Amino acid sequence: MRVGVLTGGGDCPGLNAVIRGVVRKGIQEYAYEFVGYRDGWRGPLEGDTIPLDIAAVRGILPRGGTILGSSRTNPLKAEDGVRRIKENLAKHEVDALIAIGGEDTLGVATALSGEYGIPCVGVPKTIDNDLSATDYTFGFDTAVGIATEAIDRLHTTAESHMRVLVVEVMGRHAGWIALHSGLAGGANVILIPEQRFEVDQVCKWVTSRFRATYAPIVVVAEGAMPKDGDAVLKDGTLDSFGHVRLSGVGEWLAKEIEARTGKEARTTVLGHVQRGGTPSAFDRWLATRFGLHAIEAVRDGDFGKMVALQGTNIVRVPISDATSKLKTVDPKLYEEAGVFFG
Ligand code: F6P
Repeated sequence: MRVGVLTGGGDCPGLNAVIRGVVRKGIQEYAYEFVGYRDGWRGPLEGDTIPLDIAAVRGILPRGGTILGSSRTNPLKAEDGVRRIKENLAKHEVDALIAIGGEDTLGVATALSGEYGIPCVGVPKTIDNDLSATDYTFGFDTAVGIATEAIDRLHTTAESHMRVLVVEVMGRHAGWIALHSGLAGGANVILIPEQRFEVDQVCKWVTSRFRATYAPIVVVAEGAMPKDGDAVLKDGTLDSFGHVRLSGVGEWLAKEIEARTGKEARTTVLGHVQRGGTPSAFDRWLATRFGLHAIEAVRDGDFGKMVALQGTNIVRVPISDATSKLKTVDPKLYEEAGVFFG
């Protein structure tokens, strides 16, 4: 058996741990061979490979990023994409593919294994934790840790200058990073894409929080949106889900807070720092287990499936279960956090 492995979409701490788990178990237990495809679906589309053996995965467990490279290439949108992939897999004598990625990468895997008969197993990945059918995706815990550390640091500088600090974290469609890091970091306001916010309410919370030695921290997910009356929708852009997004929501909100409360405000946009560097212990554990179970699914010929964490068990679900619907923040969880607002 020869197995192709690829990583697609935005990178994420833990990708290398998955690759290592897949390759180590595949070679040691099943005597499989591996082909690494470069840059997500671009690799099988263009026949771009790298060797993937025990030596290639040595020492990569704690390394961020992906040794295979990544891209957002979608072969279903390329001319003759499926035919070219089939030809390259045949040329490389690849019998099955393991696709590690988010909604786009896994969406392609669903189509290839369903409509086109290319055997694929999926591994879910995103720091945003917004894929359904799995309790957690690897990368999320690392991102939350980085954001929490940033919030801790911002508390002391905010207090020293008695300023409002607005921290913008990742999360286009779901506020998981904002909610978890906001709670862990003791933020005074948390704003998520799932619930539109009122700037006046945010200002009330901010004002009530100012004390002699205390200055508030506002955590805002990049996809959070003000209610219509407040929105500067002309500045918004439509994302792939057809949602209007206000780019630079953190910066915009800090300006509004300054104008409406008279308090000085600053913004920190954490951006790709949340995706870089070494994965946390939890993410290494989860990613490694995903890798071990993905190669087992290949051995069992269980294609069109994705490994997922449910409770403490790794299970297999149809890949489409993860991509057909986003996993957004439960309103009850958000309400629960509200006790700390203001
Ligand atoms: O990995 C998901 C994500 O981090 C989003 O939260 C973010 O908007 C996006 O990726 C940005 O990715 P890129 O800059 O690679 O397009």
